[in-house]
Amino acid sequence: MPIWRPYTSHYEGAPLPLRVVRAQGSYLYTAEGRAIWDGTCAWWVTVHGHCHPHIASAIARQAHTLDQVLFADFTHPAAEALTEQLTHRTGLAWAFFTDDGSTAVEVALKIALQYFYNRGEKRTRILALEGAYHGDTFGAMSVSARSAFTDPFREWLFEVEWLPFPCPKNESLLEDRLREIRQSGEIAAFIGEPLLQGVAGMRTYSSAYWDRIAQAVRAAGGIVIADEVFTGFGRTGALFATDLCNEKPDILCLSKGLTGGFLPLGLTLVHERLFEAFRSPEPHKALYHGHSYTGNPLACAAALASLELWSQPETQERLAQLVQTQGRLAAQWKSRFPDLPTRHLGLVWATELPTPEKGYFAGHRHALKAFALEKGLFVRPLGHVAYILPALSSEPSELERAVAVLADYTEALSA
Ligand SMILES: Cc1ncc(COP(=O)(O)O)c(C=O)c1O
Repeated sequence: MPIWRPYTSHYEGAPLPLRVVRAQGSYLYTAEGRAIWDGTCAWWVTVHGHCHPHIASAIARQAHTLDQVLFADFTHPAAEALTEQLTHRTGLAWAFFTDDGSTAVEVALKIALQYFYNRGEKRTRILALEGAYHGDTFGAMSVSARSAFTDPFREWLFEVEWLPFPCPKNESLLEDRLREIRQSGEIAAFIGEPLLQGVAGMRTYSSAYWDRIAQAVRAAGGIVIADEVFTGFGRTGALFATDLCNEKPDILCLSKGLTGGFLPLGLTLVHERLFEAFRSPEPHKALYHGHSYTGNPLACAAALASLELWSQPETQERLAQLVQTQGRLAAQWKSRFPDLPTRHLGLVWATELPTPEKGYFAGHRHALKAFALEKGLFVRPLGHVAYILPALSSEPSELERAVAVLADYTEALSA
């Protein structure tokens, strides 16, 4: 089948994709009737589980009412309600709609840069965290770590200054950089994944570091952009990772879990202060960015239905239960495999597998995936980092089983 799959090597003899015909809760069902427990939330999107009936019904209702409008000239109730809820929740007054995580980031960067342009201020320095991943469009790639993902495009990416990953080992290096940043008049923006870098290997850091970086960037007059495309919607145990930080962002990027995994949608939420630089009848002050599907009513209806689920006590109870289970499993793993760096934050459980080759191309990404699939579990290791990210439809016993499969694989490595 000539389908060019993402992040996939295509060659004679390469593993073929599984054909999934249906999904429910935490399970995917293949054409042959196999049930596979999805430990990735379908690339981190299906927060409530697959095919949640509440979201499915909301989309169906919307599909019979209003399918699409040209969002530059029209608005509609679902986009308005979604904007109202999220601006109220975050304190960020303006919502710009896009299609996915990369474009939510792309727009955040454009807004930050055009903010200074509209004010006639020259600010050129953009900061990001070492190891960052913010998406695959050119702006998003520019603020992402240089890697095999970006190598072919390297000379077309704009320059970014990398802050050391915030951890005790890098403390003095980071403090030196922050001191210099505080005194700079050229900082335009900092972009970071608050508390948890997903693609980098589920690397966690404390909210105190996020706060210190944000404070330094603000002291320099720069804009703080939180990319919560991955961390948003429960992943860190709170609705947003920045709920756990004192320093709130000026711009917040959302996608992935926003629609509960049903439809692509990105949102860039922006502080009133920044919007003020765009409030003008002069045409060159407007933001010239948009997508054909901007503000798609079906996606907005899905996002609203997902937020309704988040407001239910059962959702919060299940979140707390699974966060607690992941914490317990991480502690048990640490005592069983004390040499393996193991991390837990919110719903995320991750461990570094023993390997001669670290990084995204470590052989575990294929070997562990194949091993787990045999046992009815889908995982997609980030190179040598194995992780489990459960949907809220999961039972604690399913998490225990998933981690037991990973333990069997890890034991077999040293056998
Ligand atoms: C933190 C972060 N930002 C942005 C993106 C890009 O999102 P999308 O794949 O929807 O373009 C991702 C995707 O994994 C991500 O983890």
